[in-house]
Amino acid sequence: MTEMNPISRFFVNLSASSRSARAYDWVRKDVPIPAGSVCLELGSGTAAFAARFVDGFRPAQYVATDLDPHQVETARAALAKRFGGRPPPELTVRAADMLHLPFADVSFDVVLAFVAIHHASPNHFDFGPIPQALSEIDRVLRARGLLVYREILHKDAIRRWLGDHGYAVERLRRSWRVESVAARKSGPPAPA
Ligand SMILES: C[S@@+](CC[C@H](N)C(=O)[O-])C[C@H]1O[C@@H](n2cnc3c(N)ncnc32)[C@H](O)[C@@H]1O
Repeated sequence: MTEMNPISRFFVNLSASSRSARAYDWVRKDVPIPAGSVCLELGSGTAAFAARFVDGFRPAQYVATDLDPHQVETARAALAKRFGGRPPPELTVRAADMLHLPFADVSFDVVLAFVAIHHASPNHFDFGPIPQALSEIDRVLRARGLLVYREILHKDAIRRWLGDHGYAVERLRRSWRVESVAARKSGPPAPA
């Protein structure tokens, strides 16, 4: 687990707006996230997706997190600009490592991660550390909660891990490089 170097960060952030627009379009059209959900985003970068989501989905709470303090700072500045210095109170940005999430067990209805899960692996290509990130996601997600992610690496291995841990893939969209998945954690339905 390491921060991106400044050059990688520059290029990742350069394309963040268009990437978040594509992610948002997919979620909007395809993924059943109820208003009032408590949401956690991992590797949220510039928080471009978070800003769109909070506008469109009205979550009760949306916590955008990133390992890299530079990204947290960039996200806070971008949100201050976008919301005229007054970001919605339900949207917070903080530093967090997806390998050791600083959140209580079963505290989120939805966990989101866009092109971020493979960053749990320092060289990105070694699947070895990724199950720990998935276990952390599983720990903080409530029963029947949704994991919503887009990935370019370890696509089969991540889905296999989720299947082995009782997740049902409810949405799956593939383009030539990116796979978009919404997977539901098992468990009894929430009481009405
Ligand atoms: C490819 S960028 C994607 C950023 C954003 N989701 C987007 O689509 O623009 C991956 C992000 O994951 C963050 N990251 C890397 N390792 C992490 C970790 N262990 N925990 C949380 N975030 C991490 C990076 O700092 C970076 O902002």
